[in-house]
Amino acid sequence: MTDTNDVFLITGASRGLGLAMARAFDLHDAALFLVARGEIVDEFKQAVRYRADLTVSPEVHDLLEAFDSFLDDRKPGNVTLINNAGTVSPIASADRSDPGEVDAAIRLNLLTPMWLTSGFIKTIEKRKLSGRVINISSGAAHSAYAGWSTYCAAKAGLDHFTRCVGIEQSDRVNPVTVVSIAPGVIDTDMQSQIRGMNKQDFPMLDKFVNLKESGALESADRVASRLVAFLDDGALKHGGIYDLRDL
Ligand SMILES: NC(=O)c1ccc[n+]([C@@H]2O[C@H](COP(=O)([O-])OP(=O)(O)OC[C@H]3O[C@@H](n4cnc5c(N)ncnc54)[C@H](OP(=O)(O)O)[C@@H]3O)[C@@H](O)[C@H]2O)c1
Repeated sequence: MTDTNDVFLITGASRGLGLAMARAFDLHDAALFLVARGEIVDEFKQAVRYRADLTVSPEVHDLLEAFDSFLDDRKPGNVTLINNAGTVSPIASADRSDPGEVDAAIRLNLLTPMWLTSGFIKTIEKRKLSGRVINISSGAAHSAYAGWSTYCAAKAGLDHFTRCVGIEQSDRVNPVTVVSIAPGVIDTDMQSQIRGMNKQDFPMLDKFVNLKESGALESADRVASRLVAFLDDGALKHGGIYDLRDL
């Protein structure tokens, strides 16, 4: 069970699923290290709210150092990194996508989670702690959508990175458990952005409009509480790829 000795580093905690997870772990009195570019609400029992743009390498470097120092003052139980910050931009066919947006999206959705995972593993090894990495993935890692080539490629890459690191960790003396979890379709700003696109850039637009209109989107709070229950269950396999909808 998640408790007061546990520590969670959650990226993308200013809104959407990240904020909902922070609230869910706060209910269990866990210590939180919350990251986003924008303002993060000040409502948690024990939290550091850390501003960083995770597309900017020096800011990712500084974040890892700040998190390592944050652990100095504690004797944590489980320490968990949740790579949640993400973007579905650019939504356009590959030939119409802005290269700068593609670069930023790959950094945020793939490169930074890879870097944070590797820095986190070093910290956990150095401190001889118990560690987990939860990469928030998507059904887009497996399904191909016109207009989402950057997002699909990044999430597929994140899942495969997870599999590889899972194999690496499985025979370590003090392994960090690294998994990917697709959360399902959630009623957040990301879905509003998708519904705001046009059919030329995103031919599957109607499907996502219908999901909203038919009430098929999950609330972020509900997804977060299912995720907490899944983590508490403790049955995570090294390199496991999960879909919350199947659990
Ligand atoms: N919503 C869905 O239906 C759905 C479905 C499958 C998977 N997912 C995945 O679930 C995760 C959360 O999605 P969501 O729907 O909660 O998205 P969201 O509502 O758009 O929130 C995205 C979060 O990421 C942060 N973020 C964005 N760019 C950042 C940057 N450059 N540096 C630091 N933080 C940044 C945002 O904070 P700031 O803007 O303040 O920086 C925000 O907290 C993502 O990985 C997404 O791919 C979502």
